[in-house]
Amino acid sequence: MPHTTTMKAVVYEKPFSVVICDVEKPEIQHPDDIIVKVTTSCICGSDLHMYEGRTAAEPGIVFGHENMGIVEEVGTAVTATALSCLSMWAAVDAPTAKKAALPSVPTSIQDLLAVPTGEKCTTVTLYVAMGPYKGGQAEYVRVPFADFNALKLPPGKEHEADFALLADIFPTGWHGVKLSGFKPGESVAVFGGGPVGLMAAYSGIIQGASEVYVVDRVQERLAKAQEIGCIPIDFSKGDAVDQILKLRGGREVDRGVDAVGYQATTGDGKTEQPNVVLESLIRLVKPTGGLGIPGLYVPKDPGAPDSAAAKGYISFPFGKLFEKGLTIGTGQCNVKMYNRYLRDLIIAGRAKPSFVVSHEVSLDKAPEAYDKFDRRIEGYTKVLLHP
Ligand SMILES: NC(=O)c1ccc[n+]([C@@H]2O[C@H](COP(=O)([O-])OP(=O)(O)OC[C@H]3O[C@@H](n4cnc5c(N)ncnc54)[C@H](O)[C@@H]3O)[C@@H](O)[C@H]2O)c1
Repeated sequence: MPHTTTMKAVVYEKPFSVVICDVEKPEIQHPDDIIVKVTTSCICGSDLHMYEGRTAAEPGIVFGHENMGIVEEVGTAVTATALSCLSMWAAVDAPTAKKAALPSVPTSIQDLLAVPTGEKCTTVTLYVAMGPYKGGQAEYVRVPFADFNALKLPPGKEHEADFALLADIFPTGWHGVKLSGFKPGESVAVFGGGPVGLMAAYSGIIQGASEVYVVDRVQERLAKAQEIGCIPIDFSKGDAVDQILKLRGGREVDRGVDAVGYQATTGDGKTEQPNVVLESLIRLVKPTGGLGIPGLYVPKDPGAPDSAAAKGYISFPFGKLFEKGLTIGTGQCNVKMYNRYLRDLIIAGRAKPSFVVSHEVSLDKAPEAYDKFDRRIEGYTKVLLHP
């Protein structure tokens, strides 16, 4: 059926350029879909990999996987009883996830109640290679597998910015700490003070870390880390591992989180060295400790600094890793495993992740926001877009 209505959306034009375009307003295409009128969509560090042309993302796609809004229309099969055992990732690529038979996520019926028309929810949609869905940096978004995907939120404007972070970034930071095998009382070093790193550091604090180090070189990000009680480490001023070991009298840390990923740089902030954080963490974490790696690594990188990294081959000292008996946990965050609990922590006043939000702008300011966030200038740390 031809589309009669259009809407504004953030469209990927070419590397380092997004534009605001009129695109077709989404419609229900499958009985499991809902249409959400977007109130807030976030820009993620993951979007920057696509923005910089460092993924297989094709020009013309609508960006945005961290979405929040009001349900406008509900598909006929969206019901209260659709129990699901797919992960959040499955919500954007269900056929693959079904094949992969991902572990089941314990879910109560209450949390799977379909979000009815007029109610508020967060959802996750597009990321490159995760299905044919359009992103939510737009006025409306079609949400597939909505019984599972949409997380119901209380009505009203309270906690608006905190809730927006439930679609991805807060669960991802939490997940990073969990992946490291963290236990209360332990020390954690988080590499990367972007939104994921800051959320990991904050999760470490909420989960009972004795000390949290945050490594970055962007001053505003290090300042935010300090604000929440972490120890900031500026890696432009010298090797981060040496700095942390010196502060700890030579003692290694219990856990390490890589919240940087394959576009990690050396201290100059420009020269990419994809293995630098992995090498550092293997040096810094104590024997039998653990590494959580939510930072993204891709199987194909069109702009990689060498031919091995272009195919996703990243070298790191596996011998040392073996010798120390370190564990590694990595992968896309299973958002659904955490988001309703993190929502409840926010409602209970025990978590306020919105400290990470640096800018809230209208959708038409997205091109400027992408540019500044990508260059990590003027304090751009986490940007919320409002259509
Ligand atoms: N696993 C998941 O589900 C998931 C979800 C969201 C984001 N991510 C990934 O997490 C990573 C971080 O995301 P973000 O939004 O915080 O991105 P970001 O780009 O804003 O932050 C990365 C930070 O790392 C810093 N950095 C670069 N090299 C470093 C080094 N050698 N040591 C320490 N810090 C260094 C940069 O200065 C920057 O502040 C990205 O790779 C993103 O794709 C993963």
